Amino acid sequence: MRKIYLFDTTLRDGEQSPGVNLNTKEKLEIAYQLERLGMDRIEAGFPAASPGDLKAVNAVARALKHSSVIGLSRARTQDIDAAYEALKDAEDPCIHIFLASSPIHRKYKLNMSKEQVLETAEAAIKYAAKYFSKIEFSPEDAGRTELDYLCQVTETAIKAGATVVNIPDTVGYLTPYEYGNIFKTLKDTVPGIENIQLSAHCHDDLGMATANALAAILNGADQIEGTINGIGERAGNTSLEEVAMALETRQDFFQAKTTLVLSEIARTSRLVSKLTGMAVPGNKAIVGANAFAHQSGIHQDGMLKEKTTYEIMSPEVIGLKESTLVLGKLSGRHAFREKLLDLGYELGEEQLNLAFAKFKELADKKKEVTDEDIMAFLEERIVDT
Ligand code: KIV
Ligand code: ZN
Repeated sequence: MRKIYLFDTTLRDGEQSPGVNLNTKEKLEIAYQLERLGMDRIEAGFPAASPGDLKAVNAVARALKHSSVIGLSRARTQDIDAAYEALKDAEDPCIHIFLASSPIHRKYKLNMSKEQVLETAEAAIKYAAKYFSKIEFSPEDAGRTELDYLCQVTETAIKAGATVVNIPDTVGYLTPYEYGNIFKTLKDTVPGIENIQLSAHCHDDLGMATANALAAILNGADQIEGTINGIGERAGNTSLEEVAMALETRQDFFQAKTTLVLSEIARTSRLVSKLTGMAVPGNKAIVGANAFAHQSGIHQDGMLKEKTTYEIMSPEVIGLKESTLVLGKLSGRHAFREKLLDLGYELGEEQLNLAFAKFKELADKKKEVTDEDIMAFLEERIVDT
């Protein structure tokens, strides 16, 4: 089974979420947890961005023993020097150099010709090779770059010494078919591509970040970049827990796997949410509060008979205790009776009918009927009768 490397950028692209600012202590706490989660590569920050970020990347670089630690850098010598300063104590350091390649970025942001972009990328990678044996290069906005030119940029990066070439869909513009086709074309046409790793980096502006990453895997990507809980610039990045669980659940289809410690997913998600202050939406795949909660009576009845009727993954796999059956107006007698048994009430048929009627009355008035609600009316009305 092919291994897919996971590159976590929660501490860099994730920190680019509006309103998020992580100090060194918080970055360290998340980095330790990411290492416990078995993350292959961790981008700890952008050392040239501020003295504080350089210090934080350095602290992570010194602390981690298993995951590779990465620092982001523009294609400039001062940035590369700062990245070296931050990463020189790491067990397994890697620099991540980016330079935009799309026509829009070349014209409006960089004011560079195609040739100048190639030359600048080549010079930066060669300069970084003085310090680093692992160099990732990203043609920023690769997703909107002319495909033949992207092949040229990739070939230049490989020749200059890049060990990973990352293909960012910086603005989350592409569809899975188009994104997958870029990987296929690079694999089929770029000389030397077999000597490096190809990486996918997607944003979720159109809600396709995870689908695009999976399309990249189907077309030969070796590494997926993303964040925990999918946080990041604007609509966020590919959510790494979604990729890991998609590969785990559909191994039959993808024929690829990660080496993530899946049982650490829930804990990591909670920590990232707490320290970034970004709540996880209830309906978020894998880690949302409702991801393993069942509300309708028909689903609850199915779940009580056999969990695979309505669950394709077990909550225990990601480190949660169990699925929940939310009691509300759609719940049926089967789920209600199980809840009573859980709470320690074994009622006869008549009492159960009375209790169920009372429960339905209450459920019409409340979004969710809690254990406390049930115990209160049982104590008042049923048990005494
Ligand atoms: O989205 C992007 O293009 C990036 C690059 C720095 C890789 O985050
Ligand atoms: Zn990004």
